[in-house]
Amino acid sequence: MKNYFGYEGKICVVTGASSGMGKATVEMLVDLGANVYALDLNPCTINGIKEFIKCDLANKKEIDEAFKKIPEHIDSFFGVAGLSGAKTDYRTTFDCNYTSNMYITLNYLKNRMSKGGSIVYCTSTAGLEWKRFKKEQNKVVHAKTWEEVEEVTRKLASSAPATFAYMYSKRCLSQFACEQAVEFAKLGIRINNVLPASTDTGMKQEFQDMIGSEKELIAQAGLAGRLASPEEMAYPMVFLNSEMSSFISGLDMVVDYTDTCLKTLGLKKNIEAISATNPIICAIAKKMLTKSANNNRALNPSSSEQK
Ligand SMILES: NC(=O)c1ccc[n+]([C@@H]2O[C@H](COP(=O)([O-])OP(=O)(O)OC[C@H]3O[C@@H](n4cnc5c(N)ncnc54)[C@H](O)[C@@H]3O)[C@@H](O)[C@H]2O)c1
Repeated sequence: MKNYFGYEGKICVVTGASSGMGKATVEMLVDLGANVYALDLNPCTINGIKEFIKCDLANKKEIDEAFKKIPEHIDSFFGVAGLSGAKTDYRTTFDCNYTSNMYITLNYLKNRMSKGGSIVYCTSTAGLEWKRFKKEQNKVVHAKTWEEVEEVTRKLASSAPATFAYMYSKRCLSQFACEQAVEFAKLGIRINNVLPASTDTGMKQEFQDMIGSEKELIAQAGLAGRLASPEEMAYPMVFLNSEMSSFISGLDMVVDYTDTCLKTLGLKKNIEAISATNPIICAIAKKMLTKSANNNRALNPSSSEQK
């Protein structure tokens, strides 16, 4: 039987490997014969991986240490780790979701991948409107160092709600992928994005709390009538980084069971078409989120004590 995916013996690096989509991705890659280096804050205990490397992706030094433990030549990278911003501050959320992927790509993948290499980032349908807001993202996406990104996001990080870092970081990552796909094509390396809709992972409860109910979360998954499973997001990531996708680069693969179609056809309101950096919008959002958190605390004092 022909090995269509071509992962056998390949060095694959997966971030966010210990839960949800990242975990499902690692399991598939191990089954397909890849040598998987699994990065995460929490342990990854999947049988058959080459190595689990504990790494806080919001910390540049820990990334540097992690890449010392990975073989010099890397075939495929899966940037899956992410934070919603519900439990972390703006800086941590933004750096985990965007800065780490930028830093790894420019400092490690560019030098350590060769022709035939492949990169996929897990962004989000929350970042779908990145083309409309390019002006807002340019200064971040064109910053080439960790410190520069920190500098250009400093003001936002101190004024906007952390959950706004989610949408902004995902938009920045989608734009970064598009721009770098052009650069990396000169080296024969492909870059693509997967934009998942609502998925039943470790992050589900955080998104559900933000949006109000499971029903509303499911309504963001198009006409599926249910949330996606982690595997249903891992499949497209594994496909895009495989030899089956050898002519696909620069793609935003939206995995949302028609949600975008509904918006395009005017059958559903597009709530993502708002600025992620406008100071007035950020201030109003922060006020609303603080009010709703206070209400939740008043209604459920024991749950806020636990946090
Ligand atoms: N679940 C959804 O509805 C949904 C929708 C769209 C996009 N996404 C994106 O999917 C990706 C995977 O998330 P998931 O839904 O599988 O959630 P998850 O919480 O199950 O998995 C996220 C993983 O990232 C790891 N992680 C978080 N912060 C880290 C850090 N600083 N350093 C290292 N590892 C860290 C966590 O430990 C966890 O293993 C994320 O990028 C997320 O933004 C999720």
